[in-house]
Amino acid sequence: MFKGVLFDLDGVITDTAEYHYLAWKKLADDLGISIDRQFNEKLKGVSREDSLRLILKHGNREKNFSEAEFNQLAKTKNDNYVEMIQAVSPKDVYPGILELLISLKNAGIKISLASASKNGPFLLKQMELTNYFDGIADPAAVKAGKPAPDIFILAAQVVGLNPEECIGIEDAQAGIAAIKASGAFPIGVGEAEQLGSDIALVQSTDELTLDFLKKQWNN
Ligand code: G6P
Ligand code: MG
Repeated sequence: MFKGVLFDLDGVITDTAEYHYLAWKKLADDLGISIDRQFNEKLKGVSREDSLRLILKHGNREKNFSEAEFNQLAKTKNDNYVEMIQAVSPKDVYPGILELLISLKNAGIKISLASASKNGPFLLKQMELTNYFDGIADPAAVKAGKPAPDIFILAAQVVGLNPEECIGIEDAQAGIAAIKASGAFPIGVGEAEQLGSDIALVQSTDELTLDFLKKQWNN
């Protein structure tokens, strides 16, 4: 049996993946760079700085900005995003997630956060979920962001486990690659077209019951 579940946040626990997209889209529009939802699939799960690099490269503008200007752009996106998430509340937790956290707790399975977002702890607080988490991997403490495995390795470590003992849940291409590279067992929230047809997938988070997780693990 698995001993831990490593959760991505944006797009798994709540709909903030959409807010990240809207905030990046506004920044890109202001720079005259056109991005769409298909391009956004590449940004999901990717750190703030790496996302900005991908957007500037997409618009052939990567050499146009000094380090200070780059940092200002990243800050502008984050300020806009932070404004959007002020109203996040327990009502915004995706279907089935609270029930899953409760069943994991009752079963003595460790719960850890493996989000690249520096806003993760704030969002858990807003949704009143902080107390369910046995550990939170600090994205500032890892060298390489997703698709590198570092954040999942750290998320397992902070709850005293190896990734091999854990399930990782993700909605992003980069996140699934990170789970696989860490040695944890991947479950994707989304479509095979984006996440691949070689892993367990759910279309909706209410399919993520403890029984479902056990079934996938034992498959
Ligand atoms: C998550 C999201 C990404 C976001 C990253 C950094 O992985 O999926 O879209 O860029 O976190 O988030 P932050 O809130 O620190 O800018
Ligand atoms: Mg995500």
